[in-house]
Amino acid sequence: MRISIIGGTGNQGKGLALRLGKAGYQILLGSRSKERAEDIANELKEKNPDIIIEGLGNIEAANKGDLIILTIPYTSIDKTVLELREAVKGKVVVDTSVALVPGKPPSTKRVPEGSVAQKINNIIGDEAKVVSAFHTISAHLLQELNKEISGDTLIAGDDQEAKEIVSIMAEKIGLRPLDAGPLRVSSILEELTSLLIGMNIRFKKKSIGVTFTNI
Ligand SMILES: NC(=O)c1ccc[n+]([C@@H]2O[C@H](COP(=O)([O-])OP(=O)(O)OC[C@H]3O[C@@H](n4cnc5c(N)ncnc54)[C@H](OP(=O)(O)O)[C@@H]3O)[C@@H](O)[C@H]2O)c1
Repeated sequence: MRISIIGGTGNQGKGLALRLGKAGYQILLGSRSKERAEDIANELKEKNPDIIIEGLGNIEAANKGDLIILTIPYTSIDKTVLELREAVKGKVVVDTSVALVPGKPPSTKRVPEGSVAQKINNIIGDEAKVVSAFHTISAHLLQELNKEISGDTLIAGDDQEAKEIVSIMAEKIGLRPLDAGPLRVSSILEELTSLLIGMNIRFKKKSIGVTFTNI
């Protein structure tokens, strides 16, 4: 499966590219600048010759991919997702974004649509299947390939088959996927990111995650 990572040049995108690439997925790393995407893809490939990765412009990456992951800032959602609307038709779109308000601790902005994932769903419509996931795995841990990933990732979405595809991806990189319910619960998942960043600051850590018990 070819996975396109939109905004893949940031820390979260690079981390997912590395882990999913190591798990055997073919990675199409997207950027607003094809050159930047190629540079980062080459850099990751040089250090990890076993991964299959290509740098492309965001739209080309989305066109070529079977599944799309969005790792972009909240402020860029409207423009970027609108540009990708055609390219993502019929595909699973995994959103990892959070409407973060920086601070110590950070907080999240109220999203009028309910959550960032619902906002994306409203923009692209029913022709793509939006799944919200990977909010509680830190970019730092994703990029530290010598460290094993553990813990849970909550997965929200309205399409069961799409959630199952994302669950398999999560499992392959070492996370236990848990079905959190419909897409409208995504606001809770998104809030967890700011909670965890605040805890990382307080506990002087870089990769605190979550594990649910008694399931
Ligand atoms: N970092 C974490 O640990 C973590 C954990 C959970 C969730 N998240 C969420 O995941 C998302 C990505 O996180 P990140 O830390 O990787 O973010 P980031 O570094 O701020 O941004 C990722 C990429 O988005 C692109 N981008 C930046 N501004 C843009 C704009 N105005 N329009 C279109 N593209 C733009 C950039 O790529 P190009 O310049 O190459 O286009 C950038 O490399 C965020 O929403 C974040 O809240 C992060």
